[in-house]
Amino acid sequence: MNGITICGTGAAVPENRLTNEDLTRMVDTSDEWITTRTGIKSRYISQTETTTGLAAEAGRLAIENSGIDPKKIGLLIVATFTPDNLTPSVACMVQRELGLNEVSMAAFDLNAACSGFVYSLAAAGGMLAAMPDKYALVIGAEVLSRTIDYTDRGTCILFGDGAGAAVVKHRNDARLVSYLDSRGDDRIICAASAGKKCYAPQKLFMNGRDVYQFAVDIVPRCIENVLEQAGYTLDDIKYVICHQANARIIAAVSERLGAAPGQFVQNIESYGNTSAASIPILLDELNRGGRLTRGDKLVMAGFGGGLTWGAMMTEW
Ligand code: UT7
Repeated sequence: MNGITICGTGAAVPENRLTNEDLTRMVDTSDEWITTRTGIKSRYISQTETTTGLAAEAGRLAIENSGIDPKKIGLLIVATFTPDNLTPSVACMVQRELGLNEVSMAAFDLNAACSGFVYSLAAAGGMLAAMPDKYALVIGAEVLSRTIDYTDRGTCILFGDGAGAAVVKHRNDARLVSYLDSRGDDRIICAASAGKKCYAPQKLFMNGRDVYQFAVDIVPRCIENVLEQAGYTLDDIKYVICHQANARIIAAVSERLGAAPGQFVQNIESYGNTSAASIPILLDELNRGGRLTRGDKLVMAGFGGGLTWGAMMTEW
């Protein structure tokens, strides 16, 4: 068996908050358009913070929250598509920042864009089965603002920066229930570097309307897949934590699945879309808000660039 349990969470965001009002001074938009089309009111944008810095702070808080001995961490995964360097990985730099260079661990970044945290938890579940006495530190961290074209009103209003983290432990008495999928597609695309041979735009490009349709179609099916595998219905689930891409997507998925009010949790209003960080930031909010009780069943669902998508069921 290779189940997991989450034993602590943490989150970090940059200091600088960018409101819809601020954006109206940068592009032709309005608070009303952004609020009704996306549910977003403000987001945090890095001025000096790095992906590594945010990831390390979220990781430090998650370790503190879990109360574990950090020397027992055997695996550190950072889900990101905005690493500070192609090498060293953000994960290795977080290991150093946390003062854990003397601790033997596997550390690597995982790029599955906005599905990255779900993919990373699933990878951690598989890898921890081979080291059941160790913990994994799984982080989603992005400084998306460095990929954003702040003259493109279709994308610049959506994205924010931040990091969320979870300390994860192997569970012998549970099965890891996850569903991961992908399909190569350039409806969301951003070049890796400014090299002359790049065929992709240097800034993030997204065909928003297409991606919206894709998300509303695929996310309910992902969630149904993991519920079916686990032998549960939505009634058994305390919270569904969807990637925070657009409040309308979350509402449409929730409605399609006939969810109870409040079951699909949200915090997009204050953070925007933080890609791989959105699920763990929200998980941390639930944890620190005292809204989680041991044994609560949670479903997490991510979707985005790649295209990638996936869902996972876990018990708090
Ligand atoms: O995290 C990875 C996955 N990403 C997503 O899931 C994003 C999915 N897509 C979306 O969330 C939505 O498609 C957007 C929020 C990006 C756009 O909302 P939409 O309702 O699909 O708008 P649209 O692109 O169809 O544009 C509608 C109109 C257009 O004007 P016309 O052509 O109808 O005259 C746009 O030019 O809204 C215009 N528009 C804006 N107006 C004011 C686009 N952006 C803005 C803006 N302010 N910021």
